Amino acid sequence: MKKLFISLMLTLTSGIAMASSGGHLMDFTPNLKDKAGLQSGAKTFVNYCFGCHSMQYMRYGRLATDLGIPDALVEEHFIFNGSKISALMKGPVAPKQAKKWFGAAPPDLTLVARVRGDKWLYTYLKSFYLDPSRPYGYNNLLFKDVGMPNVLQGLQGDQTCAPAYVAGTHGRTKRDPITHEFIESDSTECGRAAHVSGTGELSPEEFDKMVSDLVSFLVYAGEPVKIYDRTFLGMDLSQREVYGVYSLLFLMVLGVFVVLLNREYWKDIH
Ligand code: HEC
Repeated sequence: MKKLFISLMLTLTSGIAMASSGGHLMDFTPNLKDKAGLQSGAKTFVNYCFGCHSMQYMRYGRLATDLGIPDALVEEHFIFNGSKISALMKGPVAPKQAKKWFGAAPPDLTLVARVRGDKWLYTYLKSFYLDPSRPYGYNNLLFKDVGMPNVLQGLQGDQTCAPAYVAGTHGRTKRDPITHEFIESDSTECGRAAHVSGTGELSPEEFDKMVSDLVSFLVYAGEPVKIYDRTFLGMDLSQREVYGVYSLLFLMVLGVFVVLLNREYWKDIH
């Protein structure tokens, strides 16, 4: 009975979690096979995020090995505080200080992809828009009144907030940005972020690629064994899949001995 109750609760709560994550996130699939992409994601992270966010459960050395970046390059371009290559990637800013500056301390990003999910991160990084009422001049559609400045603005350029109107039967109908349901409205409230052309260093396609690489890198950081860097019998496998194959092979070999041992134990009894 107790078991039934627990499994029922689990089913119900997972249903709720699925429902609340909604359909408002942009479509995105991380690429953990593309080493060059992951390297460029790591570079973007170090150049644009590491100044405020730590990645304190990851070591420089592991990143260098997994992504195939020579240690010397990591030491030269990724380490700014004289740490050793074997050190954890602690950020330079003390959380207390950062809280004073931004109103909220920038959270550690090692596990953020596990907490928020890849689609959330991708959408978040593409949803900053101009909002003069905010202290740094930008707001975020997904994370209202976010404390983080629009750090990729130079690359992406500006986005303005466009009302999410679609043609409806009763005048103007708007989609709720979170639930995607139609609501009738006359207001010009923000529904989506529209790119202002010619304002960023990168074209929209280049920017998308950069954000994709960055989020793929964050997914890798959240679970490094997911990276595809092994071949086994001609198949491309991730590190954890290789561990899986070896574990099964070991169990098969062990199984033979267990069967033989079992026979040995029972042979005098029958
Ligand atoms: C100038 C400092 C600064 C920089 C640089 C910066 N962030 Fe942030 N970030 C913050 C602050 C502050 C918050 C907390 C916002 C809040 O809670 O209102 C934050 C929040 C976040 C969150 C939300 C985490 C959560 O689960 O609530 C993510 C994701 C994030 N940052 C990713 C990034 C990425 C990726 C980069 C690099 C492209 C980056 N940040 C660069 C200051 C920064």
